[in-house]
Amino acid sequence: MPFPKDFTWGAATASYQIEGAASIGGRGPSVWDMFCRIPGRVYHNDTGEIACDHYHRFKEDVALMKKLGMKAYRLSISWSRVLPDGTGKVNEEGLAFYDALIDELLAAGITPWVTLFHWDMPYALFLRGGWLNPSSPLWFADYTKIIVDRLSDRVQNWFTINEPQVFLQMGHVDGTHAPGLQLDWPEALRAAHNVLLAHGRAVLVIRERAKTPALVGYAPVGGSFIPASESPADIEAAKLVTYACFEKTLWSNTWFSDPIFFGTYPEDGLKVFGSAMPTVPSVDMDIIRQPLDFYGFNTYFATRIRMGETLPEEAPFPPGSPHTMFHWQVTPEALYWTAKFLNERYKVPMYITENGTACMDWVHEDGKVHDPQRIDYTSRYLKQVRRAIEGGVDVRGYFHWTLMDNFEWAEGYRQRFGLIFVDFPTGKRTPKDSFDWYQQVIASSGEALGK
Ligand code: GCO
Repeated sequence: MPFPKDFTWGAATASYQIEGAASIGGRGPSVWDMFCRIPGRVYHNDTGEIACDHYHRFKEDVALMKKLGMKAYRLSISWSRVLPDGTGKVNEEGLAFYDALIDELLAAGITPWVTLFHWDMPYALFLRGGWLNPSSPLWFADYTKIIVDRLSDRVQNWFTINEPQVFLQMGHVDGTHAPGLQLDWPEALRAAHNVLLAHGRAVLVIRERAKTPALVGYAPVGGSFIPASESPADIEAAKLVTYACFEKTLWSNTWFSDPIFFGTYPEDGLKVFGSAMPTVPSVDMDIIRQPLDFYGFNTYFATRIRMGETLPEEAPFPPGSPHTMFHWQVTPEALYWTAKFLNERYKVPMYITENGTACMDWVHEDGKVHDPQRIDYTSRYLKQVRRAIEGGVDVRGYFHWTLMDNFEWAEGYRQRFGLIFVDFPTGKRTPKDSFDWYQQVIASSGEALGK
C-alpha cells in the first residue's frame, strides 16, 4: 500500500497568478502590478490585471476542483487585497472574497491550505522600504493576525512564506522579478533576514490566535540535487551539495531552513558572505526558530552531482536529455533523493507543495487539450514520491503545480503549467487530458500510476 489512504492529493495556485481583478474590490497595488508596468520586464508586457479572473470565476473553478477529486487546495492570499496600504485600514471586500472562497471549498469537500505570502507585497510597503524596513516582520505579523482572526475557524493548514529564495534572489538581487531591485549583499542579506523574522512572527501569531488546531509550515525551493549514479560516493556528494551554501547566492536550502529549524545560519554560508552578513542578535534567531509541523518542498528539476577528485561536482546531463518548455531538465528522482536528504536533515513531515511542468499546450482540432508530456512527467515524479514513502521518507501529500494555466511571472502567459487550459482573452477553461488522468490517480489513491 504505497500511497496511504489519507495521503493529501491536491493542486496549488497563487493569488497574483490567477485572481486578476487587480484594481477591483478595493485591492491596492502590489509590487508585481508595478513591475508589470515597466515595459520589457515581463514577456509580451503581460500583466496580472485580469489573469484567470478567478476573483469573479472562483465558483466555476471550485466546481472543477471538485470534479478533479482534489482533497486539498493550496491557495495564497493577496496581502494588498486585504490591506490595500499594507498596514492600517482593512478592505472588508477583500476579506469577504476569501471568506466566500473558503466556504465554497469546504462545501465542495476540499481542504484549504493557505499561503500568507506568495511574492505580492503591497506596493505601499515597498515605498516604505519593503523587506529592508526593520518593521517589515511586524507588518507581516499584523497582516497575519487579520487573516488568522478571520479564517482560522475554517482554515487549519498554513504556509507563511513561499520560496524566499526566488523573490529574494530574483526580485532583490538579480532584478528579474518584482520589485526589480539589484541590492548589494549587505542589503540583500538584511532583507532575507527580515523575511525570516516575518516567518517566525507569523508562526507565533498563528499559534497564539488560531481558533482551530493549526498545521504550520513554509514552502522553500532552494536547490534539488540528485546523484549521477547510485554509488555511495555520488549519493554522498549530492547530499553534501543539498546541504551546502558555498556560493554567494540565495539559492540555498540551508540558508533559510537552518535558521528556521535550528536557529542558526549555516557556517559555510556565513563564511562565504563574510562581512556582508549583518550582525544578528540571538533573540532574532529565537523568533525565527519556531517549531513547524511540516516542510513544504517545491521542486521542478534537479542538478546532477557526482563525487569529483576531492569535492562534489556537477555532472552534465547526456546530450538530448528531456527538458520542459521552460528548458528545465526532467528529473523525477528529485522527489526521491532531495526529499530524502531534506527529510533526514529537518525531520518534520514533508508535503510536496509544488511540482509540475510547462508544456506546449493548445486546443486541438477536436476541441481538447492533449498534454501527454505533462502526464508522463507527473507520473514519473509521483512514482518517485511513492519510492520515497516506501523508503521511509515521511511524505504526506502532493500538490500539483498548477490547477490552471496562469500568469507565470516574468514569463507572462507564455508558459502553461495547468491541468486546466485557460483561454486568456475569453477566460474559457478547458480541462486538459492530464486533468482526467490526475482525477484517476487521485480516485485510485495512486494505483492508476501502475508499476
Ligand atoms: C514558484 C512559484 C510558482 C511558479 C512555478 C513555476 O514556486 O516558482 O511558486 O508561482 O509559477 O514555480 O515556475
